[in-house]
Amino acid sequence: MYKIVRAEELTTNIYFMEVEAPRVAKKCEPGQFVIVRMDADGERIPLTICDYNRDKGTITIVFQIVGGSTLKMADLKAGDAFHDFVGPLGCASELVETPIDELKQKKILFVAGGVGTAPVYPQVKWLKEHGVDADVIVGSKTKDLLILEKEMEAVAGNLYVTTDDGSYGRSGMVTTTIQSLVDEGKQYDVCIAIGPMIMMKFVCKLTKELNIPTIVSLNPIMVDGTGMCGACRVTVGGQVKFACVDGPEFDGHAVDFDEAMKRQQLYKTEEGR
Ligand code: NAD
Ligand code: FES
Repeated sequence: MYKIVRAEELTTNIYFMEVEAPRVAKKCEPGQFVIVRMDADGERIPLTICDYNRDKGTITIVFQIVGGSTLKMADLKAGDAFHDFVGPLGCASELVETPIDELKQKKILFVAGGVGTAPVYPQVKWLKEHGVDADVIVGSKTKDLLILEKEMEAVAGNLYVTTDDGSYGRSGMVTTTIQSLVDEGKQYDVCIAIGPMIMMKFVCKLTKELNIPTIVSLNPIMVDGTGMCGACRVTVGGQVKFACVDGPEFDGHAVDFDEAMKRQQLYKTEEGR
């Protein structure tokens, strides 16, 4: 069993949990994910790792209520435990495989949308710990839905918060801020965009025009996270890939988002039923 040492609601329907999982914490890298199950018959839920503490042996996950299982999971409190907590799964972020000297030469832009802020955080933190400052855009629908702002502020080189309704920070979607930063003279060598599929699609459309290579994380289309269900099949550069095994990160400019989003909708309908 994997004990929950801290549990809190970050904002409406978005929850934070720190879980004792020493073997996962020892090995995991930014970009990887875990699969949790609440009981032996429970649904497998893939979640990107938000943070890890190798000394304490804990992993932090952040999740949003999207169905019956996550609704049940939101009821868990500190002291409760997960039946399974499997990981680290998937490939580590390309950044952690890149030589530090090379990273220090690069101008890196992260674009985090909504709950996607959670998986962006460990990457920015990792870079900061290795002496690399990155620019980070965090987008949320409205001020009340913004998460991890203080945590991100502590590790980002520059943090740009934007809300769709203009209730806090800049106004508009993340793509508006990307365009503004470029118009202000900022230049980027690479962009890492993590958030809802529609956001990643439109960030990629823009960064293609701006000629900024872009990496996306296709965690949202995963279902069982083990390479067996086929739900996360995606075409990348004309080749068939599985997000949970070959990813979750891919070259965003090569991803067929429309196909991936159609498959995601199909699963949502089945889950709804
Ligand atoms: P949201 O709908 O509130 O969107 C977050 C931000 O994305 C918005 O504030 C906006 O700036 C941007 N955005 C949305 N639509 C856009 C568009 N058409 N063009 C440009 N920018 C756009 O996000 P949410 O409700 O927090 O997101 C939940 C989704 O995030 C779920 O579908 C979940 O699967 C996904 N998610 C993804 C990952 C990942 O690894 N990619 C991790 C966690 C959650
Ligand atoms: Fe099922 Fe990848 S999530 S095959």
